[in-house]
Amino acid sequence: MASRGWTAPKARRPPRAPQGAAGIDAGIDAGIDRARRDGYLRAMSTRSILIHPDPRLKKVCAPVAAVDERLRSLLDDMLETMYAAPGVGLAAPQVGVDARALVMDCADKDGPRAPMCLINPEILWRAEALNEHEEGCLSIPDIYAPITRPASVAVRFTDREGAVREAAFDGLWATCVQHEIDHLDGKLFIDYLGAAKRMLITEKMRKLKRERAKAGISA
Ligand code: NI
Repeated sequence: MASRGWTAPKARRPPRAPQGAAGIDAGIDAGIDRARRDGYLRAMSTRSILIHPDPRLKKVCAPVAAVDERLRSLLDDMLETMYAAPGVGLAAPQVGVDARALVMDCADKDGPRAPMCLINPEILWRAEALNEHEEGCLSIPDIYAPITRPASVAVRFTDREGAVREAAFDGLWATCVQHEIDHLDGKLFIDYLGAAKRMLITEKMRKLKRERAKAGISA
């Protein structure tokens, strides 16, 4: 999710693998010293973000079967891509991966980073109270619209280490987690708008994609 007026938190430290988490890195650890291994784990790269309209953004994504190194590498790349954009949330389908996984960080811009990885997230509870927030999306650049959603939600998910967790979200976090879970079901924030407005935005994005293609920019 893109948030108007939001800038990336100051702390530049990337998320790290847990220290001494027995077994997790066993496969790739063999024959690699710790410094090299940590360097390897931190080797992240940004991926291109798909721009609406794209059939890959309209799909109901497949559940993640296993939390392995490949998935962790995807999540790390997604965080890197999200921070670089900059944005506060990014879902796997936005980088062309059909998997129920998302990353987000809605921490205050003056504080340290607070990256979260949610795998196979499921909303357990929605507050009756509603909240309106000016939403944007990294797949729909520079378009913002006020969207009304439950003000808080409780979510069950698997984390980056493979542990099943439950967490309550409110404020920007609640808006963002709902926006990102929508992505996993092929739903965009503009789907909450009227048909005419949505068509206008889609036409703008088609034009943007044509211009980007001409300029040789992928996705
Ligand atoms: Ni989005």
